[in-house]
Amino acid sequence: MMVKRVLVAGGAGYIGSHAAKALRLAGREPIVFDDLSCGHAHAVKWGPLVRGDIRNADALLAAIRQYKPDAVMNFAARIEVGEGEKNPSHFYDNNVAGVLTLVRTMLEEGVTNLVFSSTCAIYGDPERLPLTEDLPKRPVSVYGRTKLMCEQMLEDISRAHGLNFAALRYFNAAGADPDGEIGEEHDPETHLIPNAIKAAIGMGGPMKLFGTDYPTPDGTCLRDYVHVTDLAEAHILAADRISNGGNLQLNLGGGEGRTVLQVLNAVEKATGRPVPHTIAPRRPGDAVALYADTTKTPFQHSGIRSLEFT
Ligand code: UFG
Repeated sequence: MMVKRVLVAGGAGYIGSHAAKALRLAGREPIVFDDLSCGHAHAVKWGPLVRGDIRNADALLAAIRQYKPDAVMNFAARIEVGEGEKNPSHFYDNNVAGVLTLVRTMLEEGVTNLVFSSTCAIYGDPERLPLTEDLPKRPVSVYGRTKLMCEQMLEDISRAHGLNFAALRYFNAAGADPDGEIGEEHDPETHLIPNAIKAAIGMGGPMKLFGTDYPTPDGTCLRDYVHVTDLAEAHILAADRISNGGNLQLNLGGGEGRTVLQVLNAVEKATGRPVPHTIAPRRPGDAVALYADTTKTPFQHSGIRSLEFT
């Protein structure tokens, strides 16, 4: 089935706003549900904005009753690994209790399709690379644990109550809408690529490079950076697929690992400026190396890529 109307929880945030745009471009109707605690009203351009928190069942119920979506995509979550280590109860409340409230409310109203933002952080420090979906899940961060708990909760609820869900395990979302209408806009910004660009253009001084003593080729962490528009489009494919019944648990990465220093070099090349940085200790909760096996979700590596599930 082709899902038509989609409630996009967290649709004012980075990946959620790109998903709302992708939905509109694909002829669907995104309804953004967002409390604007991290997202931005100006990033909601492709459908209505309902202000609300996913932990508020009444607000969710009202939105679902008003718009009667065919599916829900949930991007509303706390995402910064370091913040999770400092404030775990806040993470469990937002990321786990919030998803439970969301799912219960959906099911009460007969909405049975959920695309859920999961993460490669659920694998922790994996025993082998590239990461296949079946590897053991041993998260090394609070953030990763909240997302793993959600996946387990969704499996149980799916079995008992007929929920169809897709858990999309993102690697590192990167880039911005190719039309320049929206982009990455966190406050404070903790992610590598925007911080490197800010340092290169002289915004806020040198950036910190967290850890140069990791067991990787140049001592810095290795990650799989995947374009945010590819991620956004994957959500639509996943929603259509699960609406026929069944669940998906998929890695979404480009399949290539890049070290922090390689990213800094790429930023230097793109901007034509050095990236001033200082060496800092390892950041708590960071895994050493993560990149995806893409057998189940092959991306092509040219510009904005099309994606098809095998
Ligand atoms: N890094 C720096 N300096 C910075 C920012 C990041 O050295 O200013 C390093 C980090 O230590 C890490 C790498 O760059 O080694 C990437 O860090 P990001 O913060 O950009 O991304 P993360 O890998 O920590 O986190 C991202 C998402 C999470 C997701 C995680 C999975 O933000 O939601 O990927 O690994 F869970």
